[in-house]
Amino acid sequence: MCTDIIEQRNVALDQILAERRSYRVFTAEFPPDDEIRRILHAGLLAPFAAAAVGNSKDYFRRFFVIRNGSTNLNAIRHLVMNHVAVMAQELEHGMEKDPNLRKKAGMFFQRLSAIKAKGVVPGIGTAPFYIVVAERKGFPPVELQSLAHCMENMWLKATALELGFQLVSVTSQMSGNPEFCKILGITPGEWELMGCAVGYPTDELSPSIRPPVDDVTRWL
Ligand SMILES: Cc1cc2nc3c(=O)[nH]c(=O)nc-3n(C[C@H](O)[C@H](O)[C@H](O)COP(=O)(O)O)c2cc1C
Repeated sequence: MCTDIIEQRNVALDQILAERRSYRVFTAEFPPDDEIRRILHAGLLAPFAAAAVGNSKDYFRRFFVIRNGSTNLNAIRHLVMNHVAVMAQELEHGMEKDPNLRKKAGMFFQRLSAIKAKGVVPGIGTAPFYIVVAERKGFPPVELQSLAHCMENMWLKATALELGFQLVSVTSQMSGNPEFCKILGITPGEWELMGCAVGYPTDELSPSIRPPVDDVTRWL
């Protein structure tokens, strides 16, 4: 490939990498379904742990696109909110008994408490689309890593389409919840989950600021 084309491809890729940001406020407008499909296709192109998931004919990665305002989204919102409340309560009990846990989990506990107090799970019901990705559990258990690759591909594609994207990591806590899994049509405990919100952002964020590579790298 000629050097000019390589350079152009890298300029475009570097720009998308730098512009990938966490958007947390969205307009109510729904992006076209076809753009959502393109984001899911990018997720399908992400690597997967071939040795862990084996060669079952039943494909090991699934996508669930849930529209804001739908009956399913409303049901999911309630289930996740209830789960957040239970997690907060359990964590509080755990922290009472264990000062080390209090130190480690204090910030996370505050976040759960804030979600509970507001009655809003960020990304669920706050964006046009809530998307759940499921990866079949295998051995060794590396599904969450696979899902992270999938999410990153989807995130970069959303960025290239000028759509906002927000990770909704509380989704992974729902993988064993029978009612949540029933809505998706999957067996609880068989799949690991991760979620994201997608829509048009209300404001544009500046590109990411990170330390210079040489400040955080040792060549050995
Ligand atoms: C494992 C993981 C989980 C995350 N979970 C959430 C989340 O649930 N909600 C959210 O708004 N952002 C979440 N984020 C996004 C980070 O907060 C964000 O990437 C970080 O603050 C850097 O900001 P940027 O994405 O705009 O560069 C998560 C990121 C990672 C890597």
